[in-house]
Amino acid sequence: MKFYITTPLYYVNAEPHIGHTYTTVAADCLARFYRMKGYDVFFLTGTDEHGQKIYESAKKEGLDPGELADKVSEVFKNMWKKLNISYDRFIRTTEEKHKEVVKNVFKKLLENGDLYKGEYKGFYCVYCESYVNIEKEGENICPDCKRPVKEISETSYFFRLSKYQRQLENLVETTEIVKPEFRKNEVLNFIKKGLTDLSITRKNVVWGIESPTEEKYTIYVWFDALLNYLSGIGYLYNNELFEKYWSPDVQLIGKDIMRFHHIIWPALLFALGLPQPKIIFAHGWWISGKEKISKSKGNIIDPKYYIEEYGVDPFRFFLLREIPFGLDGEFSEENFKKRYNSDLVNDLGNLLNRTLNLIDKKFNGFLPDVKSDENIINFCENVYENYSERMKKILLSDAIEEIWKLVIYLNKYLDEKSPWRENSVKAEETIVSTFYGLRNLLIFLKPFIPETSEKMIEMMGLEKKEIDKFENFRIIYPGRIKIGKREILFYRKK
Ligand code: MSP
Repeated sequence: MKFYITTPLYYVNAEPHIGHTYTTVAADCLARFYRMKGYDVFFLTGTDEHGQKIYESAKKEGLDPGELADKVSEVFKNMWKKLNISYDRFIRTTEEKHKEVVKNVFKKLLENGDLYKGEYKGFYCVYCESYVNIEKEGENICPDCKRPVKEISETSYFFRLSKYQRQLENLVETTEIVKPEFRKNEVLNFIKKGLTDLSITRKNVVWGIESPTEEKYTIYVWFDALLNYLSGIGYLYNNELFEKYWSPDVQLIGKDIMRFHHIIWPALLFALGLPQPKIIFAHGWWISGKEKISKSKGNIIDPKYYIEEYGVDPFRFFLLREIPFGLDGEFSEENFKKRYNSDLVNDLGNLLNRTLNLIDKKFNGFLPDVKSDENIINFCENVYENYSERMKKILLSDAIEEIWKLVIYLNKYLDEKSPWRENSVKAEETIVSTFYGLRNLLIFLKPFIPETSEKMIEMMGLEKKEIDKFENFRIIYPGRIKIGKREILFYRKK
């Protein structure tokens, strides 16, 4: 009953934009879901602070790379605080503990014969921090980001990636490690084309972890960064922690960094003799005007605007609801507003208001003491099952869709039964049942919109802690409950 989940470590050359918040909010939602299921969760995130790209960014700003890393990692932490990200550890790759682990892994692999010294001759893209094959002779352009690449020729240590070709093929073919399913072939084809050994040291990069070798190199930033998933939970220094949580249950990444995570990372784990992650899920991109949203494209969407204008939870909700997790989607304020007004203001906000108004007007603010309609109880059971199944498959927007069936059902139930028209036991039952459904709805929604769920629960006169665990959703309240103070959570936007 443990659940270990990670996000990529974000580069400190840019402040968090919508893409970074997307992965982190999704991971947070899953971490909260499993905690509410009763799992012992460890949620790791952090910042990737070494390498030439960071070094050059710092220079441009007139800072030491360490100063830039200090500054920007704080900005990330503040953003996560704003967004209610419930991480257990925020790791920075410049931490001593992490550096030690990286050096020790290097030594281990050297001793095992998984590293060897050779000559690297080829191209390097600083922006992608990646060794690349150029497509056209003479045109030294990165095939991924289309920026100019550098030609390098230097002595280097290589990781025997090619040695793990068969094992990797087998891993991808026979396990769930590559998700979503439709990505599997892409990864397999890449492996089958043949893997070449990977240079993991750099001669002329100063901002990196020093190699534990006689002649000094700095360690390639991706080798350094990937190992955070081990160092973040105590590998080689806190056995108890490590044993408890290894291996990762879900690792979330964007589709841009699949090769590193679906190939190099598992190969490193093979070399270290460690069990593999269960799922490495690659989500799609937020697009604006047909292009991936990124600092370099100049089409950045600043989460701060949406948080201020609409609120933290509407922002979390939109990210996870709007596009199927795994696919790309267009981010626009128009779409945001539509989703906000229809789902949060109309459907959810109205349901709460109607229910509480009825209790107020008809029963002086006290919930009547009668039994719930069996139909609603069964409906909730059903929704919970379908919702849980989607969450386990990391189909986050599908999971919300399942929950929304309950929102729609309850609104319709009220319309049909029209309890405001009569004063009878039937009317009492309708209201109590809606109240029961609504309480469950807020439990189901809590991983997505934690603050709203808690506020709404208080408005219903219930305690926040009652919605901490899914197991509470079946509790049927006997007795009179006095509903709480009300406020409007979602204002309609024009
Ligand atoms: N530092 C590496 C990861 C090392 S992990 C050991 C890196 N960092 S990054 O800052 O570039 O962040 C990459 C992640 O941000 C992507 O994998 C993805 O999760 C997210 N996104 C960045 N832009 C994005 C979009 N436009 N849309 C969705 N997510 C994207 O790569």
